Amino acid sequence: EPPAAEGGEAAGGGDELISVGFSQVGAESGWRAANTKSIQDTITEENGFELSFSDAQQKQENQISALRNYIAQGVDVLAFSPVVETGWDAVLEEAKAANIPVVLTDRAVETEVEDAYVSFIGSDFVKEGEMAGEWAAEEYDGEGYKVVELQGTTGSAPAIDRKEGFASAIEGTDLEIIDSQTGDFTRDGGKKVMEGFLTAHDDIDVVFAHNDDMGLGAIEAIEAAGKTPGEDIKIITIDAVKDGMQALADGKINYIVECNPLLGPDLAEVIKATVAGEPVEERIVVKDEAFDQEAAVAALPDRQY
Ligand code: AHR
Repeated sequence: EPPAAEGGEAAGGGDELISVGFSQVGAESGWRAANTKSIQDTITEENGFELSFSDAQQKQENQISALRNYIAQGVDVLAFSPVVETGWDAVLEEAKAANIPVVLTDRAVETEVEDAYVSFIGSDFVKEGEMAGEWAAEEYDGEGYKVVELQGTTGSAPAIDRKEGFASAIEGTDLEIIDSQTGDFTRDGGKKVMEGFLTAHDDIDVVFAHNDDMGLGAIEAIEAAGKTPGEDIKIITIDAVKDGMQALADGKINYIVECNPLLGPDLAEVIKATVAGEPVEERIVVKDEAFDQEAAVAALPDRQY
């Protein structure tokens, strides 16, 4: 079969490729790497797409300028995972004025723009926080435990929602959040913030980290302080990427709520349906599980990411 022609002809079939401009948050975590791979593995020429992909390095201004470039290029569909919730109205208006449908993946936006996007595909972050909090409440209520929280990127949907979900689930228990700061979803951020927590407080019993990477950074800080992660200080995280699951299997993390990063297949379907003028679901909620040590040991051999 001849290779795909320039200008958007699909190999063999003669069908037009659907051009997609995707603006990714960054490469801040293992979760993000798996999410990027899922998108790049499914939004392919073979599947009928021409993907332009950019990494915004966790900066909203980079995302906005990437989206503006894609609008100027006249892509068929825009997709992005918004680093923070607010501040998108102008660019969403521009996409709308250019008649380019927008699909949100992973993170939500708060916008005044009507019909700003056709679909939002991603996890329920409030529920993830609740699942983490419910487990903590069940395991630790009655111990008078002090909790520190490593928040995700300030202003991002997962940081706002996971904080809210966790807090509501531990309400009425004797678990107390004594400190809460952002580690920006990175391993390094988690380590630095945890070092600060350990200096400021000598009574930390539990860490709730909004993602595995920050939890893994916290493990380094706890070990450097001469304490045993998973025992002296319990750790609860969200994501369930391989490194996190390994730490859970090793007993250094105590519980992980999953956040499924494999959004590529749903994104491909939504884009195809949108371009074909078919109805799409405005909200596609991805299902998440949760793991304790035993479940992590069982799941690890088949874990893809
Ligand atoms: O938006 C999803 C979150 O972003 C993941 O939980 C975290 O690891 C990533 O950086």
